Amino acid sequence: MSAQYDQIGEKVADWDVLPVRSEYIEGHTFFQALGSVEGQSVLDLACGDGLYTRQLKARGAQWVVGVDISEEMIASARRQEEARPLGLEYRVSDVADMAPLGVFDCVTAVYLLHYAHSPEHLLRMCRNIHAHLKPGGRFVTYAFNPGFSAKGPNSTRYGISMLDFPEAPREGQAISAELHTKTPFTIHFSYWSRATHEQALREAGFQHLTWMQPECSPEGLSRFGREFWQDYLDNPHAVALRCER
Ligand SMILES: C[S@@+](CC[C@H](N)C(=O)[O-])C[C@H]1O[C@@H](n2cnc3c(N)ncnc32)[C@H](O)[C@@H]1O
Repeated sequence: MSAQYDQIGEKVADWDVLPVRSEYIEGHTFFQALGSVEGQSVLDLACGDGLYTRQLKARGAQWVVGVDISEEMIASARRQEEARPLGLEYRVSDVADMAPLGVFDCVTAVYLLHYAHSPEHLLRMCRNIHAHLKPGGRFVTYAFNPGFSAKGPNSTRYGISMLDFPEAPREGQAISAELHTKTPFTIHFSYWSRATHEQALREAGFQHLTWMQPECSPEGLSRFGREFWQDYLDNPHAVALRCER
């Protein structure tokens, strides 16, 4: 399931222009949950082509390392680093099997945990994330919303549609979503409930778990109006989660 991004490759960059992906919702919510990274070290997991890795550096992080399982995505991130060097380091690895890369003030992951293919894989990811944090450090992730409802509005007009989403998803059930980019593509991942996420994170040693619903930035509200965003905010496809070591 994870090697799927080797095929998706640079199509994922198209996704960056969709309303939900922009600083109006996703970036706004993620950076609100993360707080300041000024002068800090950050490990950015599932970094893809480095979209957030670069933004973390631009927001003042001192040392940023990006990790992704897909060689294609890391090759794209490295090409961008070569064209405009920011001092970013990139590694190819499954987060669950990551060799020690140091200890960081924070670990981030925008769209990672729902790619765990079993509870055991999820737990290994969480243990490895924990091992890469300084005591008191934070893990902030933005990922598929376990509370997404088949009965609520789909996110199609915001750029992503859940396909045949079940009314009562089972743990580990295969889920697909279509991205409405210039060249549309479908992604596949697994459903894990909030309880399963929390169990793995707590077993790995995390505490103070806080789920955060997406919010729209003032720029997003003034550009499109609250009414435009309401369906999305009523049934968002993704949520933020913050926890501490
Ligand atoms: C939707 S992309 C997000 C990329 C980036 N965070 C962003 O927001 O632009 C999800 C990424 O997770 C990566 N991924 C999936 N499973 C992974 C795993 N087990 N370990 C590391 N990366 C993984 C994929 O290769 C893909 O690049």
